[in-house]
Amino acid sequence: MAQPLRHHRCSPVAAPRLEWAGRDDQHVHLVTSAGLQTLPAAARGRLRWDPQHGDGVGRLLIGDNHWALDALLREGLAGQVDLVYTDPPFNTGRRFEHYDDHLPPAVYLAWLRSRLLQLHALLADHGSLLLHLDESVAHLVRVLLDEIFGAANYRNTIIVKRVTKNLQRQFRAVAALPWAHDVVLLYSKSPAHRYPPPLVRKAGGPAHPAGYWKDFWSTADRPTMRYELYGVTPVRGQWKWCQARAARAVANYAAFAAAGEGELLAWWRRRGGCEEYLRPGGPGKVQHWVPPLDQRFADTLWDEFSGYAFGQAFPTEKSETLLQRVLELFSREDDLVLDCFAGSGTTGAVAARLRRRWILVESGPQALTHIAPRLARVPAGGFRVEYAEPESWSTP
Ligand SMILES: C[S@@+](CC[C@H](N)C(=O)[O-])C[C@H]1O[C@@H](n2cnc3c(N)ncnc32)[C@H](O)[C@@H]1O
Repeated sequence: MAQPLRHHRCSPVAAPRLEWAGRDDQHVHLVTSAGLQTLPAAARGRLRWDPQHGDGVGRLLIGDNHWALDALLREGLAGQVDLVYTDPPFNTGRRFEHYDDHLPPAVYLAWLRSRLLQLHALLADHGSLLLHLDESVAHLVRVLLDEIFGAANYRNTIIVKRVTKNLQRQFRAVAALPWAHDVVLLYSKSPAHRYPPPLVRKAGGPAHPAGYWKDFWSTADRPTMRYELYGVTPVRGQWKWCQARAARAVANYAAFAAAGEGELLAWWRRRGGCEEYLRPGGPGKVQHWVPPLDQRFADTLWDEFSGYAFGQAFPTEKSETLLQRVLELFSREDDLVLDCFAGSGTTGAVAARLRRRWILVESGPQALTHIAPRLARVPAGGFRVEYAEPESWSTP
């Protein structure tokens, strides 16, 4: 006889772990001019300051980021970094003018994983990591990040617009739609961390430059939010704000009406631009005033600007607009911002302009051909140059 289905208490599932043939967490990979090097994970790095290049708040670390991040950790920076934004090679299989991007997939994951572990250790408890990737690897790296940061620290996948090419138009059949976006994975270091409201400037200015009146009733359904206002008490749904806040808004509108001034917008501005107002809105209705908003609450779709730019003659250069959005939402003035795949130095340039402290790491010659001159042009961009090397290095 068929047994009735029994309800089982959900038991916690062990965190998923990404496996691949030959996964070996005891070693790290370095891509060197002599080819791929595999070293014990404990291989130590150090930093050597080059005083020729001056000094300043920023730090440009030249060399493999394994050495650089290890040296920063041992210098005492564990738990001191407020924000990591970084944009590693996506393992596209291509050779770019300034760097190669073609590791075997399993090596790529191991190579990236060891750097993500170091970044996790460097982040402050209130810190965040934003890892810029494309669709081809993001799903795998997210599992790695869940393992390292804990799935509870995964916050968002942000969609960033990328340049699309219409090459497929010439064909009679296509394999898939053209990719039009990159992804940025957002992780916090601790699940308790909360961000300030993510407000961003509205394109084209406020939709209602003089403000407008909107229905104060909503379909959400909390009985405690059904109180009397201007003789109206909802029988279902609710008012939008709690009673005390609504009472203040009623009093504010009464003061405006008593003053006999024509324009609410001018009155609101004179009173400091933060008062709220409620008024009767016709039979059975109440309205609240929505001031002209030149900001909106950001979500995960960042398609109003391109994630890429072409100002530095660097093929995978990200746009300063993207970095400005990242830095404004996830860091504050004086915070320490780290990018360990710096490329042409976009993160450092924007961090310096927005008065953050910054550390960039770049292993390629673009550290001196692109980043150093770019940062030298930013007025607040003073920096020192340090070379990241294995600890056993000895200068000939
Ligand atoms: C996608 S690009 C970064 C572009 C950058 N966001 C920009 O706006 O210009 C990745 C960079 O990481 C660098 N890179 C790759 N492996 C590295 C490593 N192990 N250590 C330091 N830099 C590395 C590459 O040389 C390349 O410049």
